[in-house]
Amino acid sequence: MLGAGSRRGLVAALVVAAATACIVAVMLVLPAARTDPYTRQTMDLHGSAENGARLFMINCAGCHGIAAQGLVGPNLHGVSIRKNQRQLIQQVVSGRTPPMPRFQPEPQAMADLLAYLNSLV
Ligand code: HEC
Repeated sequence: MLGAGSRRGLVAALVVAAATACIVAVMLVLPAARTDPYTRQTMDLHGSAENGARLFMINCAGCHGIAAQGLVGPNLHGVSIRKNQRQLIQQVVSGRTPPMPRFQPEPQAMADLLAYLNSLV
């Protein structure tokens, strides 16, 4: 039989082991969840602001204005200072802020749009 003291020691050791396992799981899962493969692929590509501007005219200017000066949607000048690259991609692909729709550009088109947004200082 184990004494009360060593049983408490065993429980403490199990709690520590479970907490450690949780921390390791969170450390492994969180970065992967924050940077999904699409976002990672987009950020690895070199975007063309010129192509991005063309895509913007077709898809975005109706709401954000032809010079991104704001209309139904907000002015986008300086947006890359307010939001990081991952947040900008999420803004375009998530559809989480209606009435802005959810877009599904190919990674290269998204990289081009991102380059355009980054050029709006
Ligand atoms: C139907 C109108 C509409 C269209 C089309 C649209 N947007 Fe938006 N957009 C909005 C609105 C409204 C918001 C503000 C959402 C909020 O934060 O509540 C917004 C917000 C944003 C933001 C964040 C601005 C900030 O200050 O945080 C970015 C970046 C953006 N849009 C980019 C785009 C791009 C790029 C496209 C084209 C691919 C696009 N939008 C198309 C309406 C639109």
